[in-house]
Amino acid sequence: MNEEIRTETGEVEDPKRRTFLKYMTIAAFAAASAGALRATIQNIIPKSAGITGFPQLLLVDSATGKAITTPDLKVNNSAIVTFDYPLQGEPNFLLRLGDSSGSDVKVSSVSVKIPASGKTFQSPGGVGPYESVVASSAICQHLGCIPPIIHFYKPGTSIPNGPSGSQNTNGLIHCNCHGSTYDPLKGFGIVTGPTQNPLPNVSLKYDKSKDQYYTLSMVGPTIYGHSSDLSGGNPLSSNTQAEVTTQSS
Ligand code: FES
Repeated sequence: MNEEIRTETGEVEDPKRRTFLKYMTIAAFAAASAGALRATIQNIIPKSAGITGFPQLLLVDSATGKAITTPDLKVNNSAIVTFDYPLQGEPNFLLRLGDSSGSDVKVSSVSVKIPASGKTFQSPGGVGPYESVVASSAICQHLGCIPPIIHFYKPGTSIPNGPSGSQNTNGLIHCNCHGSTYDPLKGFGIVTGPTQNPLPNVSLKYDKSKDQYYTLSMVGPTIYGHSSDLSGGNPLSSNTQAEVTTQSS
């Protein structure tokens, strides 16, 4: 025989009503918790912001705000010269390539293999008065290491843990996280793994009349960590300029 349960006023309480109220309380608590959890998750996961197309940006010196000209770019510069593109926090190398004597080297457009997909892409080649200025993503395509641990080693310099015999006759980009090496003379193609993707190239435009450089687009595999080059991050603060910064390697 069930024991009677009385309310504070002494009335006998209906057991079915009591059970109903109990489940309603649990359901209300669960709904409130789910709402709070959803709000928390929405705050943790960044919104997939982005842009609708590759912006054409003038490359400017971050310190002076002046447009970068060819004399500003040292041949085989061992300092790390980068600019964010096409979104904030996505650094790209800006290189003026030369031979071991410091003379500009023309960078031809070549077909670059992408082992990860089995496809190829055509690199944009060099721009500028000597067709020696090139740019690529500075985010390693293996696991995303960034400068200074990945950087350009000018011709003739040894690369710690680099390609066999530390051969570096033409200048290479090497990532010291796990040893991936890329050749900027060959469309930033792979010299040594473990990466299975070349560095995405930045297609540049040169304005001969002003001796100025502009970004046009990204070419090749998608930038590391992104499903699209244009989304998954915040747009640059300026839609007309990309700031070039220099740091020691
Ligand atoms: S992150 Fe560059 S080699 Fe692994």
